[in-house]
Amino acid sequence: MTRIFSGIKPTGHLTLGNYLGAVRRWAEVDQHEAEALFCVVDLHALTVEHDPARVRRLSRQAATLLLAAGLDPALCTVFVQSHVDEHTRLSYLLECTATDGELRRMIQYKEKSARAQASGESVRFSLLSYPVLMAADILAYRADEVPVGEDQTQHVELTRDLAVRFNQRYGHTFTVPKATRPAVAARVMDLQDPTSKMGKSHESGAGIVYLLDEADVVRKKIMRAVTDSGRVVEYDRETRPGVANLLEILAACENGNPNDLAGVYESYGALKKDTAEAVVEALRPLRERHAALAADPGYVDGVLKEGADRARGMARPVVDAACRAMGLLPAG
Ligand code: TYM
Repeated sequence: MTRIFSGIKPTGHLTLGNYLGAVRRWAEVDQHEAEALFCVVDLHALTVEHDPARVRRLSRQAATLLLAAGLDPALCTVFVQSHVDEHTRLSYLLECTATDGELRRMIQYKEKSARAQASGESVRFSLLSYPVLMAADILAYRADEVPVGEDQTQHVELTRDLAVRFNQRYGHTFTVPKATRPAVAARVMDLQDPTSKMGKSHESGAGIVYLLDEADVVRKKIMRAVTDSGRVVEYDRETRPGVANLLEILAACENGNPNDLAGVYESYGALKKDTAEAVVEALRPLRERHAALAADPGYVDGVLKEGADRARGMARPVVDAACRAMGLLPAG
């Protein structure tokens, strides 16, 4: 059976980008068709300036939202990265497999480190090694597929390179995974700046729809989305990025096709209105389930504990095998 692994980082409130690019597919397709693990990757949240209490809060919120989005612990494994030591054990072995040069070439490292330096912050070493830990997350489970949004493609490519290199040097140990992406909305853009990704850690929230935004807030943000001065509703990401973004969001919510939808609309206003309603409807059940689950943190904790126990049982033999393959003396 195909094995799937994916993760989400508790660095901010989850967004519509996270939902349409990744989480919705995990719930609607992946958990039903494969042996799937979904992880709140809290260690990754420590790679940038962080407030410990906020990371704790956001980790719990992310786990609760994953369950609210429909992940079913009877069908898949939901857990928190730091509860399973195998991720960091394997990360070190992969640091000894990766090169400094290939890590410095990672686009997210270049962008984030430039941003940190521009605002006078120091760049944590873990920001550079981040993709190695991500590779460890995936390889520890011998995952075949990694369902992610477009922004994670380069990291999954690196994961593949590390798996192949490790296997060649030390003997076959890891499955070489591949990234899978949704048909539409693999890169949801910021509503106020449709040339940049809708990301949870952006300063201003005006262009970002958060999964827990009230319906009226969602409507307002979408109605105020930046488009362009034209009038024709066309699907063209290059020349009309704002309109293309709305068409993709609408298509994702309605399981439609952005090109076909473009032909249906005669004005930007009508497109925005329908997109806003489609997003409100898509998020409604999630918000309702989240409210119920948040009132029962004991249940969420229980799911995470059981998930970590199951995940540990899967990862430990793989990481032990990697240790042996690299020449480490087995303990006892
Ligand atoms: P993160 O937390 O930034 O995002 C979680 C998932 O949401 C997708 N995503 C988007 N998709 C479409 N449009 C957007 N605007 C958008 N923003 C985010 C991401 O592509 C991702 O699939 N490094 C990862 C977390 C991670 C991971 C892993 C993922 C750590 N270890 C192992 C897969 C496997 C990250 O920062 O995702």
